Amino acid sequence: MENDLELEDRILTMLSTQYEGIYQIDIDNDSVLCIYNRGNKFKKDGNVELEQWVQTMIDRCHYEDRGRLLDLISVEAVKGFGSNDEFNKKLDVRLMYDGKYKWILVTLMYDKTFNQITVTGRDVSHRYEYDEIIKRKNAELRKLLQTTEQYKDALMSESIVMYQVNFSKDTIENGIYQRKNNKMYQSVIGLETKAALDKYNIVPDIIIGCAGGGSNLGGLISPFMGEKLRGEKDYRFIAVEPASCPSFTRGKFAYDFCDTGMVCPLAKMYTLGSNFIPSPNHAGGLRYHGMSSILSQLYHDGYMEAVSVEQTKVFEAAEQFARIEGILPAPESSHAIRVAIDEAMKCKETGEAKTIVFGLTGTGYFDMVAYEKFHNGKMTDYIPTDAELEASFATLPQVPGQD
Ligand SMILES: Cc1ncc(COP(=O)(O)O)c(C=O)c1O
Repeated sequence: MENDLELEDRILTMLSTQYEGIYQIDIDNDSVLCIYNRGNKFKKDGNVELEQWVQTMIDRCHYEDRGRLLDLISVEAVKGFGSNDEFNKKLDVRLMYDGKYKWILVTLMYDKTFNQITVTGRDVSHRYEYDEIIKRKNAELRKLLQTTEQYKDALMSESIVMYQVNFSKDTIENGIYQRKNNKMYQSVIGLETKAALDKYNIVPDIIIGCAGGGSNLGGLISPFMGEKLRGEKDYRFIAVEPASCPSFTRGKFAYDFCDTGMVCPLAKMYTLGSNFIPSPNHAGGLRYHGMSSILSQLYHDGYMEAVSVEQTKVFEAAEQFARIEGILPAPESSHAIRVAIDEAMKCKETGEAKTIVFGLTGTGYFDMVAYEKFHNGKMTDYIPTDAELEASFATLPQVPGQD
């Protein structure tokens, strides 16, 4: 018995490091058992009436989040749980602890056998802190882009790391948010391209890049985009993505998790939902569900275009390019090549002369299996259906500001 209690205590101690509160709702008896509660609003081990529990939770909830919390935990909502085979519901709300609001991820899990619901509350405030930082840094970026000189200075400084960040590559290690500042060094591509073009007095009309998470494209277009934002030049920017993972062209501009594990902070971006995984016949990279927040905003504001292309068409362009140029391009880069060829062919038809710049991001020496498949006529295309995308959008987190 003593050993059992010790074990129970140990489990509780462990759970209490992860949760702010754990409750069990007994639906048949209209009562709630408080298993653990950091806020001390309920006596541990005590049963309270369901209605009273709901009221206390609502009282400590931020007024902006009350309606949504009530939709989730009201007596009617709780009683209706499980009737439509829904066994798990989640919501982020602000709850008061010691006079301060914390963002709490409230999760309800229904147990059909006992007609009970386990409610857990987890502190996810860090997601929102980073979201605020990113919003502020995005605003700073816009200011920085006012002059190229300032922009270059900023590139050289540490501060750029904060907003030139591509979240798809970020991780949490040892509880510390690690920023992999890859768009910062990808920016060198754009700066060098600009310097080379300026040297030979070439002004591009169209700049094309492939788009997975958006880092190479963001890096390539940054200096040119600065000119466009300041109204000095007018370039066409085209992001090219796979038709099997169409974040820009068919995604939603919404707050979403940056990783499938749902650990990293939320970011507003074009996304297919963090659960989205391209079909198995998708050969190359460019399989990330979302898109860099900065590029998403630029696309949303109409500064950039996006197209999606099927992989057999991409490999067709890749093979043509390899045969003519003697360079075997990466399947990812070949998305940009496909559209560069398409745009050049349009010029041929209309007789217009245009300068087209595209990013060749890598070689295809590690992708010979895919090349072989294409060459043997075994490569297929898959475009996700609207229903598949809708199912994935349904997993987008419910947070304030989400449309
Ligand atoms: C060669 C190559 N180019 C481009 C990309 C695209 O990634 P991002 O859009 O994040 O630059 C990838 C990643 O899949 C890649 O491997």
